[in-house]
Amino acid sequence: MEQAGGNIRKAKKWIKEDPELRKMLVRSGRNEIMLDLDGDGAADVCISSENKGKNIDTLAIDLSGNGEFNLYLHDADGNGIPDTILWADDDSDEAEVIAIGSDVEDGLIDIATRIDRLLSAEEFLNEELGLSLADLAEYLKLHAAVLLAEVEKRLHAEGVERVYYFLNDAGTYYLATIEGEQPRVRPFGTALLYDGKLYLQTGKSKEVSKQLAANPKVELCAFMGGSWLRVAGELVNDDNRDVKVEMLRKMPDLKAMYSPDDGNMQMLYLKNATATFSSFTSEPEIIKF
Ligand SMILES: Cc1cc2nc3c(=O)[nH]c(=O)nc-3n(C[C@H](O)[C@H](O)[C@H](O)COP(=O)(O)O)c2cc1C
Repeated sequence: MEQAGGNIRKAKKWIKEDPELRKMLVRSGRNEIMLDLDGDGAADVCISSENKGKNIDTLAIDLSGNGEFNLYLHDADGNGIPDTILWADDDSDEAEVIAIGSDVEDGLIDIATRIDRLLSAEEFLNEELGLSLADLAEYLKLHAAVLLAEVEKRLHAEGVERVYYFLNDAGTYYLATIEGEQPRVRPFGTALLYDGKLYLQTGKSKEVSKQLAANPKVELCAFMGGSWLRVAGELVNDDNRDVKVEMLRKMPDLKAMYSPDDGNMQMLYLKNATATFSSFTSEPEIIKF
């Protein structure tokens, strides 16, 4: 379950960094995250990792509105389509299998084998939950599907996106510059993906900025969950105001120190970069961007 913790940790981190999602966070457990989507104080959605811990694979939803998760979708083979669906009665803690199959098409539609009787998923939903398939599809489309798609996107990111998410999730990385013949290193935490470029932020008044003006070559290093990332490249100054605005939107705490027009805030993106992901247990992976 080590990995599962890792993936849930990643999801927790990005939820905490998104002001809208952060407001919805009800529980942030080791292997699960619960969100209150409608703002009534009770969790409506739980995403968790159950299957070998590799991916977030389980989604529980409170469709009844009574504060209990009564619909549970589990994707055992990790292909994004639930293959077990459980429904818990309002007055029972026991979940019943309503659909099980290698893949339940479109989540719910085709296979509906209830433990005590057989009926179509549509009938079941109408009868037991008072929901039409359209209602459910709408609900999933609005909330759960968006969240799951986002989680999947982050877990399977490639190229510069993967580097960005690693830095984001690690929280702190160490940025090395050169001053004459002397290397200089310091902690950094800003990271922004904008227009396919990976940006970091600093202040023009800082030594780091002056060193970069003289020599844009950098290397940075971050460590997280048994893996580390090293990125070597050059940093390019970008005065585009929109990038600064986006950085401050993503990390609002920076507003206490910087504003887009203060003449000090500086955004720089990585160019000619080579990122190397390493761990003690696997071969290094190299990404160039
Ligand atoms: C966890 C952490 C994250 C930081 N992130 C940044 C950052 O993203 N940008 C920045 O300019 N300074 C950041 N700082 C502050 C710099 O490390 C600090 O200003 C440092 O002295 C700058 O390097 P310099 O003294 O060589 O200019 C961070 C500090 C800490 C402790």
